[in-house]
Amino acid sequence: RQGPQAGKDVSAMTAGVAVRRRAITRRYLMCRPTYFDVRYAINWWMDPDRPVDAARACAQWEALQALYRGLGHTVELIEPRPRLPDMVFAANGGVVVDGRAVGVRFRFPHRREEEDLYLRRLAALAPRGAHRPRYVNEGEGDFLLTRAGILAGMGFRTESAAHAEVAALLRRPIHPLRLVDPRFYHLDTALCVLDEDLVAYLPAAFDAPSRAHLERLFPDAITVPQDEALLLALNAVSDGRHVVLPAGAHRFAAALRARGFDPICIDVGELRHAGGGIKCATLELRGAAGAGRPHAD
Ligand code: ARG
Repeated sequence: RQGPQAGKDVSAMTAGVAVRRRAITRRYLMCRPTYFDVRYAINWWMDPDRPVDAARACAQWEALQALYRGLGHTVELIEPRPRLPDMVFAANGGVVVDGRAVGVRFRFPHRREEEDLYLRRLAALAPRGAHRPRYVNEGEGDFLLTRAGILAGMGFRTESAAHAEVAALLRRPIHPLRLVDPRFYHLDTALCVLDEDLVAYLPAAFDAPSRAHLERLFPDAITVPQDEALLLALNAVSDGRHVVLPAGAHRFAAALRARGFDPICIDVGELRHAGGGIKCATLELRGAAGAGRPHAD
């Protein structure tokens, strides 16, 4: 993989002005994929007849969390449970903004046992408490924070009534976005927040009004080609400077480098059998102690 320094030699120019990207130290919640499996199919990617390798998933996940720690971020953990094969996807455990956590309600019964486990863990990590939501809401899978407010997915998992509920609890404006392609069923498979004012996305994953809204909000956005989006390239994690993305997303990595980011590729291909990737495995804890400091370098 490329190291954090990759891309240093490429001058980052936006409208002729060099951009100096600054990393912000983050705090993440993750869950080791000890019991990872595909036993049911609740999205386009999952095929219970195809064997998965939990040991390989664990090795890839270990590398991901070691990478975050190496970049100076804090990784909090939640204990995995047997018979909850999707629990590794911590992004679906809640949304945390300003130290306030909103828990989740899953669309499908298969994951409902995770709701209380994540809520209890978030209650311990979020200084302003954790709220149990009324409406179906799959956490950071469908709610992504930017300066303009919370980008909120719907169409496959999170129901639109949850948008107003999350907006009220987290006190941020909400921007509903309708997903239309079952391969990109969570917002975080179709759109990646690179910094507060910049996103990357796959336009074809959204309906026309949502695309128009994204163009208005983010006129400088990076668009990613579909073949790379199908590697779950947009299921990436940015700290404002380093962008952790899946191996093989070459054009996305080049676009990031051209904008002054340091792309770091890592292979989490085993998780893709369940329809998940890097961002799905990572829940950001905002406003928790220790998070949000500018990075040392
Ligand atoms: N198998 C999981 C599900 O369908 C994958 C979740 C992926 N998570 C995400 N944030 N996109 O619920």
